[in-house]
Formats: sequence, structure tokens, C-alpha cells
Amino acid sequence: MPSLRPIAAGPDAVVIAAPAKLNLFLEILGKRPDGYHELETLMLGIDLFDTLEVKSIPEPQLRLECEPVSLSNGPDNLVIKAAEALRRQVNRPDLGASIRLTKRIPTQAGLAGGSSDAAATLVALNHLWKLNLPKADLALAAAAVGSDVAFFLDLPAGWCTGRGEIVQPEPLARRLHFVIVCPPIGLGTADVYRRLTVPASPLSGEAVRQALRNGDLEALGRALHNRLQEPAFALSPPVQDLVRQLTDLRPAGGLMSGSGSACFALCRDRDDAQRVAAAIRVRLSQGAFSSTRVLVVQSLAHDDAS
Ligand code: C5P
Repeated sequence: MPSLRPIAAGPDAVVIAAPAKLNLFLEILGKRPDGYHELETLMLGIDLFDTLEVKSIPEPQLRLECEPVSLSNGPDNLVIKAAEALRRQVNRPDLGASIRLTKRIPTQAGLAGGSSDAAATLVALNHLWKLNLPKADLALAAAAVGSDVAFFLDLPAGWCTGRGEIVQPEPLARRLHFVIVCPPIGLGTADVYRRLTVPASPLSGEAVRQALRNGDLEALGRALHNRLQEPAFALSPPVQDLVRQLTDLRPAGGLMSGSGSACFALCRDRDDAQRVAAAIRVRLSQGAFSSTRVLVVQSLAHDDAS
């Protein structure tokens, strides 16, 4: 899956898989007048997916059904926001859709599941509503929905700047293997940003980009960085402990993703990931965070079939 790809599921319907992401690097350059932060981040799509079943309907309505049902299916859901943004962009309030979202990506985890669902909605509806908008136009609608949405139009890896919505596709030399740990307590992105201290001397992302291009795992592990870790750790000290527990197991590197609360270990291969996952499961079963989810995942690749 080098890009989000809708699969036909009837004359007016498609199924589309929406992947999660990890941030291998995230640095803050400054606070902007609009309240957002100027940043530089390296994002990577991984093989953990939500699924959307999208159907075009004749009524001018946007209907959403979620699994699990505890998720909001109202106008605050990024799926609805994306469909609305697309209708606005083409000035077609008459268009309608019925969408079923099956959620597997943990929420409030820094894995951008909601943003990916939004990007998948844009791609699916662009197809079903026969709009034929080019990627640049979809990226405009994506940016109107959220800072992380446009990245998912440029999988598998991207160097993202601005507030995150300016995406430069990044070459990926090899498939990467990770263990993700998702604690039962999520973190709100805005809460984490509120606690952030903008660094006086931001770190360059050159080393991490070079390591990714070269497929140099040890260099990549050393170059992992996330400026949002410190405020997230202040909000939730157990998240700091999770990163420490992961790095204690000596993977190539360990970090929190995005604004948390999920953390990950960058592993040397699939076997190393299985080793780290087994060891962290044992450790977590003995602690207060026994309901923490542990997932073994890999990066998407340029040549993946959807
Ligand atoms: O763009 P999105 O809706 O995903 O952002 C959620 C919140 O995260 C924003 O309301 C803002 O508080 C914070 N944010 C930020 N700077 C960014 C991205 C997000 O301050 N570049």
C-alpha cells in the first residue's frame, strides 16, 4: 500500500484500509500566531489499520456508524469533518455518503488513527463522488481537517513541516520492525502542546533522514527524537516508564509517538521485535499497566500491494 487505495465493493461502494503512523523524529521550531506550532517531523506508515466501508447515497446526508459504538459518530468525528471539507471544496452540498468505520488503531495514542480515517474518507469519496480531484486538492481538504491528515496521502514515509500539513515524501531503504505499547490512558494532543517549552536551539532532522535513507538501523535508533515526550511525561509519568522499560530491552531505539501515549521500540528485524514484545509483555503483566496493549508491526513499503 504505497498510497491509500479504495477497493470496489459494489457499484457505489468501496472498502479502504487506513494505516496508523509513527513519528521517528518530531522537533518544534516555534509557536505561530495562529496558536499552532511550527514543526519538523518524520512520519512513517505502519501495518496497523482501521477499515472504512464507504457508500455513495442519493440523499444529501453524511451517515457514520462506528465499531466500537462508543466512538462518536457525530460532526466531531474526523471522518465526517473530512466528508464535509470535501463537499465544501467542490461546493456540492447535495452529495451524500454512508460510512462504516471499524476502529483498530488505539485512540489518543499519537498514532493518528483519526487523521488516517479522514484521509481514507477523502480518497474514497473523491472516487465514489467522481470528483477526480488531484492529490494537491485533496491535500488542501486534508489540511482543513487536521495537521496530520495530508501525510496519509503520501505513504509510506514523509518529512512533514509547517504545522505538519506540508509533506515531502521520504525514500525508505528497507522495511522497519517495531513493537508498540499502548497504555490504557490516552493523552490529548492539545493538552500535551500546552505544556510544551519551545526549544531555544531546535535539533536538526538531518541525521534521522540520512539514517532512514541509508537503512542504517543503529544510526536511526540513535537519531530518534520527540520534543513532545517531555510534556507528555509530565502529564503521565507512567509513559516515561514505558519508554525506559522498552529501551532497557536494548532494541535499536525507543521513543513515544506523536503526542503519546503510545511508545515504540525500533527493532533490528522481525525476530528482534518478537523478542522485545515477549519480554515487555512479561514485565507489564507484573506492573500497574497490565492492560497495556503490545503490538508487533512493520512499516509500509513503497512496493506494498494494497
Ligand atoms: O491539527 P490538529 O487538530 O490535529 O491539532 C490538534 C491540536 O494540537 C491543536 O488544536 C493544537 O493545540 C495542537 N497542535 C499544535 N501545533 C501543531 C499541531 C497541533 O499546537 N503543529
